[in-house]
Amino acid sequence: MSETLPPFLAACRRLPVPHTPIWIMRQAGRYLPEYRALREKHDFLTLMRTPELAAEVTLQPIRRFALDAAILFADIMTPLDGLDLGLRFAPGPVIERPLRTAAAVEAFAAHRGAGGVESVDQAIRLVRERLPREVPLICFAGAPFTLFCYLVEGRASKHFPTARAFLYAEPAASALLLDVLADIAIAYLEAQARAGAQALMLFDSWAGLLARDEYARVCLPPMRKVLAAVGHLGLPRIYFPLDGAPLLADAATLPVEVLGVDWRTPLSRAREIVGPTLALQGNLDPMALFADDAELDRRIDRVLEEAGSGPAHIFNLGHGIEATTDPDKVARLVDRVHRATAVPTFAQSTV
Ligand code: CP3
Repeated sequence: MSETLPPFLAACRRLPVPHTPIWIMRQAGRYLPEYRALREKHDFLTLMRTPELAAEVTLQPIRRFALDAAILFADIMTPLDGLDLGLRFAPGPVIERPLRTAAAVEAFAAHRGAGGVESVDQAIRLVRERLPREVPLICFAGAPFTLFCYLVEGRASKHFPTARAFLYAEPAASALLLDVLADIAIAYLEAQARAGAQALMLFDSWAGLLARDEYARVCLPPMRKVLAAVGHLGLPRIYFPLDGAPLLADAATLPVEVLGVDWRTPLSRAREIVGPTLALQGNLDPMALFADDAELDRRIDRVLEEAGSGPAHIFNLGHGIEATTDPDKVARLVDRVHRATAVPTFAQSTV
C-alpha cells in the first residue's frame, strides 16, 4: 500500500505539496511561556540532557501551532557535551578549556566519537512516539567550521578573531580540528538517524565570516565530507549558511536537498544563483513578527511571491525567532502561509 508523504518531506524532494510547509528555526524556545516555565525549574543543560524534558520541549510548539515539522530540542554544541571541554551555557555556549594550540587540538583529536548521543537517542524515540505522522522530526548538527569557531574562541563573539587568527597561525592544526569535527558530526547524525530522525540539518552560523575563497578552502571540504557520509541514510539534508549571500553558489555544490537562505537574500535571487535542483528554505526576517498584522501579512506574501509557484519551498524565518516574539504572531504566520498556498484540488503524492 502506498502512503502519502508529509508536506515537509515532499517539499524537501521538490514534489507537489497540498500547501507550502512551514516550520520555524528556534521554534522550541524562550518566546513560548510554557518553555520559560520549564526553564524556571531546570537549567538549559538539564533540559537538553534529560530525554523526557527534551522531548516535551520539542513538542511544545507542535501542540500550539499547525507546524509542518518538529525540530529536536538540543543544541549545535550537544555533540561536544561530555568531551572534557567544560561546556556550559551563559546563555550562549562557553568552552572553559578552548583549543588554542596545536598540542591541544592533537589531544582532542584522540576522541573522535560524538558526545550527547545517549540522551539524544532516547529523546528522539520519545518524540517520534508522540508526533503525528504528518509532522516529521528534523534533527541537526553544527557545521564543522561553526563548531571550530566556538571551540577555539571559547565563547560567542561577533567576529571570532581568535578562531579566525588560528586558521592562519596554525593551518595544519586547523585542518585537523575541522576534520575531527566532521567525524563527530557524522557519528552524531548517524546516531540521530538510527533513533528516528526524518531530516538532517546542518547549521553553519558563522560561515558568513569568511571571504569566498576562504569559505571554499576551509568550510566546504569538511562540510562536503559530512554531507556525503550521511547520504546513504536516505534522509533529506538541509544546509543553512547564515549570512551566506556571497557563498550561495559554492554552497549549492554541496550534496544537499535543501538550502536554507537567511532574510537578507530574496528567494528569487537565491533561486537564480543555485538553479532548480534544490529546495529552498526561508526566509522571513524574524523581526517582521514585530510588525502590525497588516504589515506582517504583506511581508509573508512577499516571501511567498519571491519563492514562486513551484513546489520546492519550505517556509521559515531567515534566522531563529527572537525570544521577545508574541506567540500569536507565529499562529498568524503559520495560518497565513497555509491558507495562501492551499491547493484545493490537491491529489496527494504517493511514495
Ligand atoms: O530550533 C529549535 O527550536 C531547536 C533547538 C535549537 C537550540 N539551539 C536550542 C537553544 C537549535 C536548532 C539551536 C542551534 C544553535 N545553537 C545555533 C545555530 C542556529 C543559529 O542561531 O545560528 C547556534 C549558533 C547555537 C549556539 C547557542 N545556543 C547560542 C548562541 C545560544 C544562546 C543564545 C540564543 O540565541 O538562544 C544557545 C542556547 C540555546 N540553544 C537556547 C535554546 C532554546 C537558549 C537557552 C536558554 O533557555 O537560556
